[in-house]
Amino acid sequence: MKKEILVADKTYWIGYIDNRNVPFHRLILEKGTTYNSYLLKTEKPTVIDTVDISFGRQFIESLSEYINPQEIEYIVINHVEPDHSGGLPLLANKAKNAVIVTTELGAKELKDMYKLHNREFIIVKDGDTLDIGGKTLKFFETPYLHTEETMITYCVEDKALYSCDIFSSHVATYDLFNDLSKDDITPDFEGYYKLIMHPHRPYVQDMIKKVRKLDINLIAPSHGYILRENVKTFIDIYDEKSKPVGKNKKALIIYSTMTGNTKKIANYLSIGLNEKDIDVELINVKTDIDMKKIKESIEKSDLILFGSSTRYGDIVGGIEEILKEIKHMNLSSKLAIAFGSYGWSGEAIEVINDYLKDTNMNVIESSYMIKTTGMNDIMLPIRVKFNPSENDIENLKHTARTIGDLLIG
Ligand code: FEO
Repeated sequence: MKKEILVADKTYWIGYIDNRNVPFHRLILEKGTTYNSYLLKTEKPTVIDTVDISFGRQFIESLSEYINPQEIEYIVINHVEPDHSGGLPLLANKAKNAVIVTTELGAKELKDMYKLHNREFIIVKDGDTLDIGGKTLKFFETPYLHTEETMITYCVEDKALYSCDIFSSHVATYDLFNDLSKDDITPDFEGYYKLIMHPHRPYVQDMIKKVRKLDINLIAPSHGYILRENVKTFIDIYDEKSKPVGKNKKALIIYSTMTGNTKKIANYLSIGLNEKDIDVELINVKTDIDMKKIKESIEKSDLILFGSSTRYGDIVGGIEEILKEIKHMNLSSKLAIAFGSYGWSGEAIEVINDYLKDTNMNVIESSYMIKTTGMNDIMLPIRVKFNPSENDIENLKHTARTIGDLLIG
């Protein structure tokens, strides 16, 4: 038997140390990583998270050193990405009666990914608990940390937080516990935060509020070091680094409207930005344009949204004149977004976007959001067909809040 790695009472590390140069999110993890999985050998034996999909066989071997996998009653999946759920198909095959515990979205994704439609699931929500025979697990939803379906699991009796991606580090360490490391682990811990968590910093703040209410002696994440010394310091690092830093940011929403729908879009975007304490100036461009005043407003703003309705496949009002005029201004520090209402194709929105790309502003589009945050529910440029529906209104405010977070850093 390999050396037993005890994490807490009757709780064992059954992960895999991956000391390759691991390709990850368009980077190479030169220090490798670990995929930490945990066996809670209680009356109802429970596995929390698994390992990368490449190491399923080794995972089952490690688990089998401690228990016959058929005895597993619960498999908790905190996060569906295959570096943590990748051992699930093999484990589920061995532990035929085990119930899978995860969030509603997690269950949907796991069923689709691994063809687990016939398995029994327990869907958990924020604050739900599960008695695993001698220990109590409590679950908290932590969306977007790292993807939308994610949750964390707290063991009440052990005061242990199983945080999956959160509070991780990418290091192929054989020490496993932070107090055993000969090196200061802080640079690796902070580097991981910057790469994986910081793009989702508003969600980090939501998570911190939940975690602060727990009495935590141990954080057992799913990559890198298990934290059992100076635990609060690591929570404080996340808290400090995810706080908004940009105060007094300004946005300008400048638009032309045909029937009033683009004006409504502008107003809902303004509401979402205001919720993030961003000052918003709205300019409805009519045919008589005060170009000097508009250029001054653009100079003063950190984010500029240009909008127009589409009529006969083209921009309406004076927006095009403004776009031509600003082409030669130095606006390199500013973010820009196109928006508008439309009835059929919405060409004006795309034409505005083309003009913006011809300036030196940073034009924000959906692809940028996906690459920087992984969020794929933000549609940019912003397009709304006819009169904004209730659903459109919620999307517009959500989009504005998300852009606001991007602006305030
Ligand atoms: Fe370690 Fe989001 O996966």
